[in-house]
Amino acid sequence: EYQSLKYIYQAAPIQPAATLLLLHGTGGNETDLLPLASNFGNNINILSVRGNVTEHGMPRFFKRLGMGIFDEKDLSFRTQELIHFLRETSKKENFDINKVIALGYSNGANIAGAVLIDEPGLLAGAILFRPMQPYKQLPAFKAVNQAPVLLTLGQFDTTIDPDATNAYVTALQNNGFATTAMNLSTGHNLIQEDISLALDWYHKNF
Ligand code: MLT
Repeated sequence: EYQSLKYIYQAAPIQPAATLLLLHGTGGNETDLLPLASNFGNNINILSVRGNVTEHGMPRFFKRLGMGIFDEKDLSFRTQELIHFLRETSKKENFDINKVIALGYSNGANIAGAVLIDEPGLLAGAILFRPMQPYKQLPAFKAVNQAPVLLTLGQFDTTIDPDATNAYVTALQNNGFATTAMNLSTGHNLIQEDISLALDWYHKNF
């Protein structure tokens, strides 16, 4: 049975508008990415969601068994739960479900990636900050309309395996997402360059 997710919704003053779906990292919540999202200006709705799983009190979007070892059964359930929530919330708040652009950091980027793989036609685009490949073995998937995906990776990020991440980028590209991956001179933390790359990508694609 799907639960709802706690969220903040801010409608753009002029409709129709696209919607930026904010997905925080482990230990974050639905307020974390609001300051970052304000860089996208007023012409976009903001839907910021809190993950439904907690690990020692820290909110996340799906369970993990260890650092970087995901409970894939929970991941696929939580991905469907998030998709169900998006459909329901689009009706309730009146935004276009076909114009949702995900912006996720770390654990939030990982569930956004699972949405791309499990329901490739749903998101109009995705910004994945410091992502990991969500499933060890990727199932077959095909992007719809070459939806654009931006990945920003930290060259010194010790939480990720660079080979696995490169394979993930290649898989997204080969299965039809218009994929851009950028290596930044940083670790797992976000830097100003993440934001400027995301803004450039957004203004180019939307
Ligand atoms: C995850 O669990 O999704 C990754 O390890 C990233 C994180 O620490 O949130």
